[in-house]
Amino acid sequence: MNHLVLPQRPRRLRRTDAWRRLVRETSVTPDDLIAPLFVKESLSAPEPIPSMPGIFRLSPSGIIDECRQLRDLGVPAVALFPCLPAEAKDPNGSAALNPDNLVCRTIRAVKEAVPDLAVIVDVALDPYTTHGHDGVLGLDGTVDNDRTVEILARMALLLARVGADAVAPSDMMDGRVGAIRHRLEEAGSSDTVILAYAAKFASAYYGPFREAVGSAQAAGTSFLDKRTYQLDPANARQAEREIDLDADEGADIVMVKPAGPYLDIIRRVRERTDLPVAAYQVSGEYAQICAAAERGWLDLQRTRDESLLAIKRAGADMILTYFAKAFARDFASP
Ligand code: PBG
Repeated sequence: MNHLVLPQRPRRLRRTDAWRRLVRETSVTPDDLIAPLFVKESLSAPEPIPSMPGIFRLSPSGIIDECRQLRDLGVPAVALFPCLPAEAKDPNGSAALNPDNLVCRTIRAVKEAVPDLAVIVDVALDPYTTHGHDGVLGLDGTVDNDRTVEILARMALLLARVGADAVAPSDMMDGRVGAIRHRLEEAGSSDTVILAYAAKFASAYYGPFREAVGSAQAAGTSFLDKRTYQLDPANARQAEREIDLDADEGADIVMVKPAGPYLDIIRRVRERTDLPVAAYQVSGEYAQICAAAERGWLDLQRTRDESLLAIKRAGADMILTYFAKAFARDFASP
């Protein structure tokens, strides 16, 4: 006899598609996804972002069209990022507080045209500052925490008032979630969700995004170094502390970012809080997969789907991903 007599054969449940489907523990659907979108003024056509194949800066009217398509594909939410010309920026990011700025106009237009789509907007000054940092700088050249928090609280209330469903502080200042929550409550904007970038690491994977919004260009030739406020990639316990603080200060959803290289953090956060957990598959993660696929080294669709599945399996309830539209399209007609 040349066969083994085994008490357990795990392969039994992998033999057919029917068994594989029955025992599958995790799945990704468009319901889980949030599409980040870049909006820019005075564009005659969608503007490609070279390091993010398939992703474009869109005009405000292009955004409406894109939002309709995403809604029709079953994607529940978008995250809007404005891309401003250099002359609209200053060291204090003042344009962020202008109620008629690009992002405010876009929020109003999207909520009017596609009211059932949830609109999430970043609260941070990097699209607005000449230096590309997320806040205003103090005399020592680092971001001044407390002055920045006051500006961000005003910015969040403004975004809530023009119709954002969620504000997403992505700046990593201390105390900003509490300040934003307080300001929103005081002003009667009690339905506005706070999606806190709670565990956001000082990552090299943000490169393509910084090109897309222009914060990299703002920093000139030097690498935009945010290590005095974003988390050290070496630190998991500090990430847990940030989660606890943001939860205590009033966050509705906590986010981990980046996602793929930080699956251990997603899992720890999942086990630590009962709040919904979001994960941001960032621009560099997207670029990596696309670049390898362009060379024929990886299968784009399979790698994309596996990368999202892994993030979900680690414990994320929702994923911000530049793959949202393509995934939803393939999900609708595989
Ligand atoms: C900044 C912000 C960043 C991203 C979202 N909001 C970059 C940064 O911290 O410089 C990165 C997203 C991505 O890489 O896709 N407030």
